[in-house]
Amino acid sequence: MQHKILEGKRGLIFGALDEQSIAWKVALKAKQAGATFTLTNTAPALRFGNLQELARQTDSEIIPCDATDTDELESLLLTSMEVLEGKLDFVLHAIGMSPNVRKKKGYTNVNYNFFNKTLDISALSLHKLLQTAKKLDCINEWGAVTALTYIAAQRSFPDYGDMADAKSTLESIARNFGYHYGVEKKVRINTVSQSPTLTTAGSGVNRFDKFLLFADDLSPLGNADADSCADFCVMLFSDYCRMVTMQNLFHDGGFSSMGMTPEMLDKFYGKSE
Ligand SMILES: NC(=O)c1ccc[n+]([C@@H]2O[C@H](COP(=O)([O-])OP(=O)(O)OC[C@H]3O[C@@H](n4cnc5c(N)ncnc54)[C@H](O)[C@@H]3O)[C@@H](O)[C@H]2O)c1
Repeated sequence: MQHKILEGKRGLIFGALDEQSIAWKVALKAKQAGATFTLTNTAPALRFGNLQELARQTDSEIIPCDATDTDELESLLLTSMEVLEGKLDFVLHAIGMSPNVRKKKGYTNVNYNFFNKTLDISALSLHKLLQTAKKLDCINEWGAVTALTYIAAQRSFPDYGDMADAKSTLESIARNFGYHYGVEKKVRINTVSQSPTLTTAGSGVNRFDKFLLFADDLSPLGNADADSCADFCVMLFSDYCRMVTMQNLFHDGGFSSMGMTPEMLDKFYGKSE
């Protein structure tokens, strides 16, 4: 993307772990679009990932934060404003983790401590971020917060386990907080429902390789990749989308509107005469 649609805008990007992360691509595209921003992830992720490389490429500072901890969120937001010398115009929430999915505990056999963790990390962290940001008044009017989600929030995808419930909650938080933040500060909150994408979080899902192929076959445009997801997020951060809020926006090559295709029926059950 060559257009400087984020020129002069300041942001905060959660969730870049390695080159495959969707947030990594968003950071690169936001930089190309003219934005300045801080990067954040948990302390362990900073040790195991290679966020330093992204920080170098985008000329950004890294501020560690566990997004489930409101004190750490407060310190992250205050430090970001200090580093960037002003309030934020956009925030990317690209955070997801389910200990149940990681440990292959199916939906009817979850560990409830793990389930609480899934919800806290993957959904409540958005509420905590928004509540802290609103309290500190650190997002400019017409600023945008975008969180990444998956269609398992709305349709049943058994292998997605308790992450499905976390994503439903995440989408609901975006809608409900979107009302309050919109009325009081004109801050926009949306979720982007992305195609399955090969990343660390994605590949934790059982049968993920087949998930990818199935979605690619069913989607008229094929799967949306992480780069195009990043383009879409950058557009949502920009003033071109200033009246878009409280939406769940599918970025999935058409998957969410499909039922079946004749080609897939032939593939599963043999070619018709
Ligand atoms: N990969 C897919 O197929 C896919 C599809 C749709 C939506 N998404 C969503 O996109 C987002 C980004 O995931 P990704 O696929 O790029 O994978 P990823 O593994 O690269 O990113 C997930 C990130 O969440 C971070 N994280 C985990 N716990 C955290 C915490 N307590 N505080 C702060 N950060 C924490 C991880 O360190 C990691 O950087 C997630 O919300 C994911 O659910 C992914």
